[in-house]
Amino acid sequence: MFTIITGAQFGDEGKGKIVDLLTGDYDIIARFQGGDNAGHTIVVGGETYKLHLVPSGIHYRARLLIGPGTVMNPVVLMDELMKLKKSGIDITPARLGIDAKTSIIMPYHIELDSLHESARSDKIGTTKRGIGYAYIDKVARDEIQMIDIADSGRFMKRLKELAQQKEAAIAAMGGRRGVVTDQGHIKEYSEIGRKLAPYITDVSHEINRALAGGKKVLAEGAQGTHLDIIHGTQKYVTSSSTVAGSACANLGIGPKRVDEVIGVIKAYITRVGEGPLPTEQKNKIGEHLREKGGEFGTTTGRPRRCGWFDLPLARKAVDLNGYTGMALTKLDVLTGLDPVKICVQYTCNGKTAGYPPELASELSQCAPVYEEMEGWEDDLSGVKSFGDMPEGAQTYVKRLEELIGVDITYVSVGPGREQTFIR
Ligand code: GDP
Ligand code: IMO
Ligand code: MG
Repeated sequence: MFTIITGAQFGDEGKGKIVDLLTGDYDIIARFQGGDNAGHTIVVGGETYKLHLVPSGIHYRARLLIGPGTVMNPVVLMDELMKLKKSGIDITPARLGIDAKTSIIMPYHIELDSLHESARSDKIGTTKRGIGYAYIDKVARDEIQMIDIADSGRFMKRLKELAQQKEAAIAAMGGRRGVVTDQGHIKEYSEIGRKLAPYITDVSHEINRALAGGKKVLAEGAQGTHLDIIHGTQKYVTSSSTVAGSACANLGIGPKRVDEVIGVIKAYITRVGEGPLPTEQKNKIGEHLREKGGEFGTTTGRPRRCGWFDLPLARKAVDLNGYTGMALTKLDVLTGLDPVKICVQYTCNGKTAGYPPELASELSQCAPVYEEMEGWEDDLSGVKSFGDMPEGAQTYVKRLEELIGVDITYVSVGPGREQTFIR
């Protein structure tokens, strides 16, 4: 069985929590795109784990895989493995596999990302983790791969080949010289490469073998649908394909293998960084959502922009991913707001539209048209079943389900694993 989970909005929908919730039923959890721009939070038994690269299946026996379509900063990964070890979770090579072809995020990618972002007059608000520049090198066939850093001879040969080009690019953007040839960085990467060598695997082969043997595989998306490099709100997007189809291409699994595609979606909407967000609330409502929802970036700590649920964007997410079920998160955060609003359509250039225009420039001109519903006062964080929720919350979920046209299978009412119920 092969299931794909993706974020249905602009990231931070609670993918980590939902993956953790489902991991008990799966044999393999695999990350297929993105890098440490992701920050996936799991809260179990009062402990909080923030993961950037390690797949969110750490709490069970599932095998964890980092696929070749990801971009991986080995320093961040080592740090994450060390923190997990300190909290009693030893991620040995028997638990984690990293594809030999995984692109490595080098210090010069981070430098270039920061320089470019600082120089942009119209900013994207990247996480400055070097994501875009690592993907540029993948496409340009100038990447350094996991297999290269595991072998210092291979690593030095590759660096030598690329050094001049990279130094020139940094200098042209006004950056400091010597980033590429910095001996400290080279030594650090070589040492980590050696330590990570036993983790190297062929992810596509492992997954295909597992599926053939009747095992269950879960692909964990990072970022969100509308941050997709092709179908998102360009240019305000990340540099990878974040939609469900990308899991097949990036992990090397045939599309006919897919059984389920689950979309994780918040009961409202958030976005970090720049770009259109039609339902954004720059007021008391936005503050309520940010404060009550703890809407501050897991990776950068930046405050997230918050707004009402956006149905046109959700409809597009359903199309782009082909969701078979939804996990609705953070319903508890809406407690105390009255009325609660759903953006059911937009007015764009004097016309109404139930689906977002293709271009970000046009989306930024759209004004939301809201349907209002009665709010509720009761705290939801201890609720154990759908029927135990106040009438208003039940009506809200049913209405969203009707509008989205896909079953809401999971409802989440708090960060903890137990604060979830299946409908
Ligand atoms: P991800 O990137 O999609 O994995 O999401 P993040 O971990 O970046 O952000 C989601 C945040 O919301 C985390 O702090 C979670 O612990 C928290 N969270 C997840 N689900 C719920 C929920 O239903 N209610 C509340 N209040 N918090 C939640
Ligand atoms: P998770 O997996 C939310 C956003 C950045 C920026 C844009 C491009 O935790 O949901 P990048 O550094 O990728 O080049 O930045 O994408 N972004 C995210 N926003 N959640 C994420 O990941 C994100 N990863 C990148 O804020 O707007
Ligand atoms: Mg996140």
